[in-house]
Amino acid sequence: MRAEVRLQQVAAQHTVAPAHGEADRPKVPVPPGVGEVLVSEQALRARVRELGEAISEDYEGRTPLLVGVLKGAVFFLSDLMREIEVPVEVDFMAVASYGSATDSSGVVRILKDLEEAIEGRDVLIVEDVVDSGLTLQYLMRNLGSRGPASLEVCTLLNKPDRRRVHLPMRYVGFDIPDEFVVGYGLDHGQRYRNLPFVAALERR
Ligand code: IMP
Ligand code: MG
Repeated sequence: MRAEVRLQQVAAQHTVAPAHGEADRPKVPVPPGVGEVLVSEQALRARVRELGEAISEDYEGRTPLLVGVLKGAVFFLSDLMREIEVPVEVDFMAVASYGSATDSSGVVRILKDLEEAIEGRDVLIVEDVVDSGLTLQYLMRNLGSRGPASLEVCTLLNKPDRRRVHLPMRYVGFDIPDEFVVGYGLDHGQRYRNLPFVAALERR
């Protein structure tokens, strides 16, 4: 069976139900202001391994360039990279999306660009979460215009209910409900990135 087909099937099974098993219990305390753990440390590790396997299969014989979107994707990317068995390179972009703290406007400014040209490269954008999809849409258009051999997306988290634009996403870790989440790289006001799990921010 082709890897992408298998992955889509896996992705469909990874719609998140809150973690409740003994093994899922967080090893670090859940800080005040942080609510339910949606994706446990164990589930993250297992899914990152599956994504790495699928990417290794799909990119056999090629050397993909992973483009991490700062800062949130760094944590996911560093774990993902170590599960990829083909030669792989990494570069980073930083973008600022105008809008409120929890809503992006689609107007994006590049704060830090790639170090290398990507013409002819197999580029894989690595994101922490795709919410409205507006930031990613901008990135795909921008990087797509630079003539890569291929351009795909790997996002750890996906919020299908929030999507405002159609985007082809080849690799999705987990579909999550319409909640603002923190941990494993994701922040609220720059905090909580260090939590080893993904949890919903408590509503006030
Ligand atoms: P989009 O443009 O609406 O898809 O949002 C893109 C960016 O907003 C993401 O890359 C994150 O940086 C941020 N974001 C969206 N949802 C969340 C969340 O639940 N927690 C933390 N950051 C988020
Ligand atoms: Mg991001």
